[in-house]
Parts: sequence; C-alpha cells; structure tokens
Amino acid sequence: MFYQPKDGHGLPHNPFNAIVAPRPIGWISTRASTGDNLAPYSFFNAVAYDPPQVIFAGDLKDSIKNVQETGVFAVNLVARAQLEVMNETAPHFARGVDEFARAGVGKAECEMIDCPRVEGSPATLECRMSQVITLEGGDDFLVIGTVVGVHIAPSALDAHGRFSPALFGQMARLGYMDYAEVREAITLPRPNDPPSDPPSDPPYDPPQVPA
Ligand SMILES: Cc1cc2nc3c(=O)[nH]c(=O)nc-3n(C[C@H](O)[C@H](O)[C@H](O)COP(=O)(O)O)c2cc1C
Repeated sequence: MFYQPKDGHGLPHNPFNAIVAPRPIGWISTRASTGDNLAPYSFFNAVAYDPPQVIFAGDLKDSIKNVQETGVFAVNLVARAQLEVMNETAPHFARGVDEFARAGVGKAECEMIDCPRVEGSPATLECRMSQVITLEGGDDFLVIGTVVGVHIAPSALDAHGRFSPALFGQMARLGYMDYAEVREAITLPRPNDPPSDPPSDPPYDPPQVPA
C-alpha cells in the first residue's frame, strides 16, 4: 500500500508511530510554580555528543509549559519493572497534579538543576533547555536540552562498566499500545575498529582533537 498522510491511511489505526519504532521513552520530570510533574514522551532522542544534547516533542502540555517556565527538565529511563507505573503517569491530569505522588513514584532531587527525578530510574539526564521550536502545523513543540548531569544506577552497569539496557529491560515505545523490552544486545565491531577486550560498541565519546 501507499498513502499520502494528507489523504489519510485507510487503516483502522494510524501506522505512523508504529513505523518509526522502537523509540526510547523519555520519562520527563519537571518542576514549576504549580508543582512537580512527570510524564512519558517517546518523541525523545539524543541528537549530539558535544555537548550532549537531547530532544523531546509534543503539544503544549504541562511538561513543555514547565520547561518554558523554568528552563530545565530531567529525562528518566524506564525499566521493565517501571512500565506499569510509568503508564500511570500518562493520563492528562489537571495542571498542578504531581504524578510522582499520584502514581506512587519515588522522587529524588537533581544535582545540577532545580528539578525532581525518578528515584530508581536506570539513568537520568539532567538538562538545561536551549531552544523550544514550534513545529509545522503550529500545535507541536520541539524542546532541545543540553545534558548537564548524568545519573546511572550501579545495577545498570555490567562487569565491564558498560551501561547495559538488557540488564534492566529498558522499555521502548512501539505503535498503538505496544512496547518493546531490550533483552539482548548484539555486539558488532565495525570492520576497521581495532580489537578490544571486551568487544566495544562504536565509541560513545566524541573523538578527542589534539590541542
Ligand atoms: C509511552 C508514552 C509515550 C508518550 N509520548 C508522547 C510524546 O512523545 N509526546 C506527547 O505529546 N505525548 C506523549 N504521550 C502522552 C503524554 O504522556 C500525556 O499526554 C501526558 O498527559 C502529558 O503529560 P503532561 O501534561 O504532564 O506533560 C505519551 C504517552 C505514553 C504512555
């Protein structure tokens, strides 16, 4: 089949976000004058190494309003054990409702920004917003943030000190009401990479330019 989005897809449900999948889930925590907030966003990703930057997007709901007010947010990863409670933070609650309290999610404080984070998340990125861009159509906004602090749960590191999503079953969003769990990593060194022990993923750090 082929369709142009402007003409409709003709299927029972829109396949778009099932095609662009799996997507990592950014469980976004924010703080504002109305209180603390927590909500999942799967229009989320990393977009740069140096400085490390992330994006998330959506219509103008509490999370983005709070980022506009405070200039900061935190991105918490979701482990398999947190899937159901993450879902409890997704309904549209009235502004001012603290989803940490509503869903019974443990709250900790960020180190570098005045913002809550999810206690027990496998990793949390503390971010300072650099830009909010209005997307085509006018109803959706893209938040760009610079990562200024990184929390990693010791249990998310393997014996070689590698952050390993399969250890905690990192959750990703598929389409519809579906999710995927990371259970296995496939290590495949690039052809020109020198042998390493243990075999490493492509380097996560940006190349060091000699001074
Ligand atoms: C797994 C998951 C991913 C979601 N991703 C997004 C997203 O990327 N953008 C968005 O606008 N809403 C997304 N939603 C819906 C929001 O979480 C929901 O509208 C929530 O009420 C927004 O909360 P807030 O008003 O506190 O920001 C997602 C929901 C779930 C369950």
